[in-house]
Amino acid sequence: MRGRFITIEGTEGVGKTTNIDYIKQWLDDNGISFVNTREPGGTPLAEEIREVLLSNREEQVCSKAELLMMFAGRAQHIDQVIEPQLAMGNWVLCDRFTDATYAYQGAGREMGNALIESLETMVQGSMRPDLTLVLDVPVELGLERAGKRSEPDRFELEKTDFFNRVRQAYLSMAEKSPERYKVIDASNSLVQVQQQISLVLCNFLNKHQDEISSQ
Ligand code: TMP
Repeated sequence: MRGRFITIEGTEGVGKTTNIDYIKQWLDDNGISFVNTREPGGTPLAEEIREVLLSNREEQVCSKAELLMMFAGRAQHIDQVIEPQLAMGNWVLCDRFTDATYAYQGAGREMGNALIESLETMVQGSMRPDLTLVLDVPVELGLERAGKRSEPDRFELEKTDFFNRVRQAYLSMAEKSPERYKVIDASNSLVQVQQQISLVLCNFLNKHQDEISSQ
C-alpha cells in the first residue's frame, strides 16, 4: 500500500524542529517506516535552491522569482524523494510543503492564490498531503522565540504584519478543510503540545489501518 504524506507547517518560532523530533520518535515507536525531509530542500539540487532563497542579498528578489524557485525545488523533491518513497509504501514526513507557499507567497507577499494553484497543478497533479499539522502560536511569541536563535534569514527579516498574514492564511486553510489540517496550539507547554500531536497521529493511524483492513 502507498505510504502516507504528512506535512508540518507554521510561522517562525512555533517549535517545528522539536515537534518533528517527537513525531519521528512516535512513528518509530509505531513501527512505521518513513523518511523525514523538508522544503525548501530535500535533495542536493533543492537544497542549493534553498540556500539561494534564504540568503540575504542586496538585490531585491521579486515575488514571482521567489515563487518559481519554491516550485522548482518542489518539482525536484517530489520526483526524487517524495513520490518514490510513497510508492514504496514508506511514509513521508515533510517540514513544510505547498501550504507554506500559499501562506508565505500567497498571503505574506500578497500574491494571491491563482498563480500558486496553477503551479501546484502543474508540479503535483492531484498529489496533496494526507495530513497537515499546523503548529500555531501568536506571531509576537513566535518571533521572540525565533529571535533567540541564529542570524535571521531573508524571511525572518520580514515584519510582524507579514507573519500575521501568514498565520491567518494557515488558520483559514485549516478552517476550510478540517479533515486534512489539524491545528495544534503550540503556545502550550511542550508536554501538552505533544499530547495534542500524539492524539492527532493516533486518530490518523487508526483511519489508515481501517483502510488497510477494508481492502
Ligand atoms: P524553515 O526555516 O522552516 O526551514 O523555512 C524556510 C523559510 O522558507 C520559511 O521562512 C518559510 C519559507 N517558505 C516559503 O516562503 N514558501 C514555501 O513554499 C516554503 C516551503 C517555505
